[in-house]
Amino acid sequence: MMPSGRKQLLLWIAAALAATAALTIILIREHQPAARHVLFVVGDAKRGRELFFGDKQCSICHSIEGQGGRIAPDLSETHPGSPAMGWLATVLWNHAPGMYRRIRSGVSYPHLDTEETADILAFLYESASAEHSGDPTAGRNVFEQKGCVRCHSVRSWGGKSAPDLSDIAAGGSSEWTRAMWNHAGSMMAPISAALGQWPEFYANDMDNLIAYVSEGNTKTPQATRGDPQQGWQVFQTRCIQCHSVRGSGGKLGPELGPERDLPVTTAQFASVLWNHAPTMLRLSQEKGITAPTLNGSEMADLAAFLGSLRFFEPVGSPFIGERVFSERGCARCHGPSAEGTKLAPPIGAPGDAFTTVSLTSALWKHGPKMVDRTEQLNIPWPVLEPTDIGNLVSFLNAPHPSSKER
Ligand code: HEC
Ligand code: HEC
Ligand code: HEC
Ligand code: HEC
Repeated sequence: MMPSGRKQLLLWIAAALAATAALTIILIREHQPAARHVLFVVGDAKRGRELFFGDKQCSICHSIEGQGGRIAPDLSETHPGSPAMGWLATVLWNHAPGMYRRIRSGVSYPHLDTEETADILAFLYESASAEHSGDPTAGRNVFEQKGCVRCHSVRSWGGKSAPDLSDIAAGGSSEWTRAMWNHAGSMMAPISAALGQWPEFYANDMDNLIAYVSEGNTKTPQATRGDPQQGWQVFQTRCIQCHSVRGSGGKLGPELGPERDLPVTTAQFASVLWNHAPTMLRLSQEKGITAPTLNGSEMADLAAFLGSLRFFEPVGSPFIGERVFSERGCARCHGPSAEGTKLAPPIGAPGDAFTTVSLTSALWKHGPKMVDRTEQLNIPWPVLEPTDIGNLVSFLNAPHPSSKER
């Protein structure tokens, strides 16, 4: 016996709210059983890499950091919006026609089940947040233009009143950003006085500077990938007095939860911190809060923690979802309640629930036929906005009106 449509709908809303609350609690409170939330929402990036370069043959067309095919965009150059899962699903969807047309002419179509989709999404997210390698020539300009050269030298070129910086970046970008950050406090007054202002870093400045400083180093700097669990520990001891995540924490600084669009690479994250150092340090002094220093890989861990917050399942409303479904043109083929028409089947089996990942997987599987159908009917491919996915999932999980009779 199925409950009535309205009752089912309410159940779904309740279930969605409970799931969201549970996720938040897992992430914010229950960091103990280590990778639980990571396993649940995120998929396994390592397996995703194997699928990408192996069985699923994405690398025939795509590259990651220059490794792989040249027919399609390098997927490490995308910058995931927030929440990343919804954003990636949207990007895949919007590019589907272009991709299928390519796939049609040759390569066999790679099937992805729900788990494989989760793994590939995790891998794409990780790749897009990998450290970029900077340009040493541009970095030399940064070193000069930001005024570091007045006091510091690199391989003996530059001022002698402060330590030579050549060796520091050998420990990797996280060693460098840590050293810079920890000295912000003692350097603030002299640097601002010498230069007339606090030098700020934008875009790739930091990556370029690191590339310049470490050029010719025989030791290969280790790429440090932060640990989000460690980052959460660090955040609780050094940052939460001033910053909140999803509303819990201090209010002196801005909320840093998933809605905040922060850079995901350690070097770019370090630039944001560096630029805000004067305000943070002034406030620490005024309020008697110890200015946060960071050790070891803590900078990378913090960046990983704040990045992981953005890998959330997008939340949505079935009511907005219904409008999106009609406005984007899905209803034209599937019917206004996704009940199915002559052109397309009903979506979702009764009793089944979609998540972002399983919807992406379903779309991927049916994509080629959908592309054929849009071409036959001569209608455009329905383009989605990143926020649509959450709303569509909620809507598709609400029961069709016809299921009342079932
Ligand atoms: C036969 C070639 C081919 C294969 C195989 C292929 N793609 Fe694509 N993909 C493309 C093309 C071409 C585009 C760009 C389409 C466009 O711009 O409309 C694209 C676009 C994308 C995008 C959007 C990129 C952006 O920056 O907006 C993503 C994400 C993506 N593909 C993921 C994958 C994954 C994951 C796989 C493996 C399961 C895969 N692709 C397999 C050709 C391919
Ligand atoms: C007015 C002089 C001055 C300027 C300008 C200056 N620094 Fe420094 N910096 C110092 C001094 C002095 C120290 C060492 C004192 C200390 O450790 O606090 C130092 C320390 C450092 C350290 C840590 C070195 C170590 O051995 O751990 C780093 C990294 C650094 N500076 C980077 C920079 C960068 C990047 C710039 C340009 C944006 C810059 N500094 C601009 C004076 C300066
Ligand atoms: C004494 C209070 C204080 C502490 C401690 C503190 N912050 Fe901040 N933080 C601020 C304030 C205030 C701002 C806004 C400054 C501004 O706009 O220049 C800020 C800005 C930021 C921003 C930039 C946000 C944006 O979008 O521009 C980031 C990121 C950040 N803090 C991260 C951290 C991290 C990580 C820690 C712990 C290592 C930390 N903060 C510790 C007060 C603090
Ligand atoms: C041009 C007609 C057309 C449009 C527009 C269209 N679809 Fe489809 N869709 C189809 C067809 C045909 C199938 C069945 C494909 C197959 O059997 O492989 C399908 C299958 C699906 C499936 C898999 C069904 C299941 O239960 O597993 C999903 C999910 C889906 N569509 C969602 C959407 C969404 C969301 C939109 C709007 C963004 C949309 N479709 C727009 C024609 C369309």
